[in-house]
This record gives sequence, C-alpha cells and structure tokens, in this order.
Amino acid sequence: MDALAPVGSKDKSEALVRRYGATIPPAGPWNETIASMLDHRSVRGYKPDPVPPGTLETLIAAAASAATSSNMQWWSAIAVSDPAKKKVLAKIAGNQKHIEQCPLYICWVADMSRNGRISDSEKTDFECLPWLETFMVACIDAALAAQNAVVAAESLGLQTLYIGAMRNDPVRVHKLLELPPKAFVVFGLCVGYATEQAAGEVKPRLPQSTVLHHERYDASKEASQRAVYDAEMSKFSSRHELQAATWTQRVLNRLGPIKSMNGRERMRTALAALGFEIR
Ligand SMILES: Cc1cc2nc3c(=O)[nH]c(=O)nc-3n(C[C@H](O)[C@H](O)[C@H](O)COP(=O)(O)O)c2cc1C
Repeated sequence: MDALAPVGSKDKSEALVRRYGATIPPAGPWNETIASMLDHRSVRGYKPDPVPPGTLETLIAAAASAATSSNMQWWSAIAVSDPAKKKVLAKIAGNQKHIEQCPLYICWVADMSRNGRISDSEKTDFECLPWLETFMVACIDAALAAQNAVVAAESLGLQTLYIGAMRNDPVRVHKLLELPPKAFVVFGLCVGYATEQAAGEVKPRLPQSTVLHHERYDASKEASQRAVYDAEMSKFSSRHELQAATWTQRVLNRLGPIKSMNGRERMRTALAALGFEIR
C-alpha cells in the first residue's frame, strides 16, 4: 500500500491536530500503525473485563521483538495478578488504584541477574557487568521492550499506563516479587479496557520545532514555542481539571521541590541494596 495514498488522510490531519494542536508538522507518510501510535493516551481507570486469552504472551512476543543492545536481552517481565500483591504495589505507587483495577499488570525488570548467572556457570569474571553503562543498557532494553508491548496492546484496542512509581520503593517491590540481586523493576504497566470516564483524550505534545533539530541544536525559539504549547496545555488542563494549567507550571511542580520525587532521590542507595555495583 502506498503510504502517501489518500486513504485515511483525513484521519491523519485530525490525529496530528490532536497531538500538536495548532502547530502541526507538514504532512508525511501514514498508515494504521502510525495512526494507532498517534492515538496513544495513558488511561487511569479500567473495567474488570479480562484481556483475551493469550494477550500476555502476544505482548511479550512484541516486547521480545524490540531491538536489544548486542542481543543481550537485559530484561524480564513479571505479570502480577494476585490481588494482594497488586494492593501492595498500588500502595507503593502512592495509592494508584488503577494498578488494582487493571486485569493485567506487568512489571518490567532491568535484569542484570540472568546474564550475571552465565558468569557463574561459565566460571568467568564479567568485567563489564558492574558499570553505569551496562546498567543504562539494561534500563534502555527494558523500556524498549515495554514500549513495543504498549504499541501492540493499543493496536489490539487495549489501553495502558506506565507506573514509574514502582521506583518509589524499589527495595520493597524487589522483595514482593522475589527478584534476585541485580534485578530492578524500572516501571510497571497497567493493561486493560478503559472505563468510559477514563477513556481520556490525546495529550498534546511540544511542537516538533522544539524537539526536532537539523544539523545542530537550536533552542533560540524555545521560549516562544513553549508559550504556544502552554496555551495548548491550558485548554487540555481545563477540560481535564488538572492541577497545573500550563506545561511550564507542570515542570515547575515536578522538578522544583524534592518531595515530588516521592523517595526516588534515594535511588542510588536502593540500587546498592539490590546488588547493583554501578561504577
Ligand atoms: C516511564 C513512565 C512512568 C510513568 N509513571 C506514571 C505513574 O506512575 N502514574 C501515572 O499516572 N502516570 C505515569 N506515567 C504516564 C505519564 O504521566 C504520561 O505518559 C504523560 O503524562 C503523557 O500523557 P499520555 O501518555 O496520555 O500522552 C508514566 C509514563 C512513563 C513513560
């Protein structure tokens, strides 16, 4: 199929307006995969309906199909369905009830333990293991895998929500899920069907001219572009009764006071407790 064919082109401009508001980028190729990706929104309320049989395995196959640094496959996933465990995880995440509601909750693990075990079985010292670079690669691999699962889930009509708040207390999450040393839940992921009230709408993003640079980094128009985005986000916030009206205010709230880190400022200590030696 010609990606530039007029099929769905009306949907394309509508999708771009939903994503960018007034500052839409020039039209380009389009297809159903891209349409599904541009329609992404995080969902914070789920029906109790289960996901169809085999969904978890399909999402994991999509996750496993993501590129992975040197094919090291530094990630694992833990599907959690035990209500008691989900309750504890929801509490760790600052009482995010959707963790308990969603029919499928997957914890994505930066897993340096599995490859570490090869070092033991092969009786070879892995000099490359205890470095920040290797830890970063494990987190990157876990994120790429999870995002493939998100794209797959959304293409099946399911909705999702990342839960970074698993990192509020990595040690407790680690114990609860009986992870080995050198394994760390980077985030959780709710998967399920949105309730009508929670179906939500596409959240606008910064103009492309703010994030896309050509040949060299250029922030000269950033302030004026941010004002345009703030106006866009103000409209979105008033429709959704969000605390921070503008994006600038959201950044100030999130990055200003240390309390907004919800304990994550102790990450270095937590990682050391989980057996990560990060040089
Ligand atoms: C790694 C990661 C962690 C996140 N953690 C949470 C979370 O704990 N709780 C939550 O409500 N949303 C969480 N989100 C969702 C973001 O708030 C959301 O993606 C962002 O506001 C953009 O909205 P959208 O996904 O609807 O486009 C997380 C997103 C990412 C990528």
